[in-house]
Amino acid sequence: MELQGKRIIVTGSARGMGAATVRTYAAAGANVYAMDLNDAEGAEVAAAAAKAGPGTVEYLHVDVADRASVEAAFQQAVNSLGGLDALAHPAAIHQAANPTDVTVEQWEAVFSVNVTGTMLTNQIAHQHMKPCGGGSIINFGSISGQRPEPSAAAYSATKGAVHSWTRCAAGEWGADNVRVNAILPAMATPMYRQARAEMSEEAATIAYWRNEYTISLGQAYGDPDEDLGPVMVFFASDASRFITGQLIPVDGGQGNVR
Ligand SMILES: NC(=O)c1ccc[n+]([C@@H]2O[C@H](COP(=O)([O-])OP(=O)(O)OC[C@H]3O[C@@H](n4cnc5c(N)ncnc54)[C@H](O)[C@@H]3O)[C@@H](O)[C@H]2O)c1
Repeated sequence: MELQGKRIIVTGSARGMGAATVRTYAAAGANVYAMDLNDAEGAEVAAAAAKAGPGTVEYLHVDVADRASVEAAFQQAVNSLGGLDALAHPAAIHQAANPTDVTVEQWEAVFSVNVTGTMLTNQIAHQHMKPCGGGSIINFGSISGQRPEPSAAAYSATKGAVHSWTRCAAGEWGADNVRVNAILPAMATPMYRQARAEMSEEAATIAYWRNEYTISLGQAYGDPDEDLGPVMVFFASDASRFITGQLIPVDGGQGNVR
């Protein structure tokens, strides 16, 4: 389960699950490049994780929706790390918009980050992992890709697309020993708190968000460091070497126990 010497890129590293993943990987001994749009918080998270060690952490700016930006940042990381063993890719955005009046602008904004960003980061990671003999790509899907989240229709649709993409890429890149899985989390993060605050009580009780009241294991949403971190270590490690193309709920039972 240890990640000593593993060379890893983490997107969306400035907060939430990306930040927790950076801390957990550094604690497991990995050499990490943390990347985000939010440079101030991204650099702060990376510096704190590097200080705690024993792994190393560097920070780089990236816009995952922009091919040139992803290519440049990943190339710089790989040059410095000497290769790439794993990509953890939580970077995404969430937006309230219902099916009746979602606009093309809203639709394209969320698709460009969540779907195009997943395709670009995965494709470029695969290019770097192949010559290293393989690797592990960890995407982020959602229960919202399996069930409707009507108050965030575009976001919900993007997560369904991430699930399909994950299975396509896993099928194609298995021959290169590159594994591709998606975590379907339920964690208390800034994204969760903002989305929950934007939703009326009425909508929350009729929508799948009701799960927050029925989630098993005695807590509302998980803690990204305690409840997700160890799973992220498992998927970046060789212990998960025979798992690919899977959608893995890390949700306290939210998806299946309700
Ligand atoms: N929080 C939950 O319970 C939950 C549930 C289901 C799925 N998810 C998914 O889990 C993942 C992580 O979510 P979170 O709650 O930690 O989110 P978050 O909003 O707290 O953090 C997302 C990070 O991504 C970064 N980011 C956004 N756009 C970017 C871009 N274009 N390029 C680079 N970085 C960018 C943000 O700056 C931020 O630091 C997301 O894919 C989300 O859709 C979260």
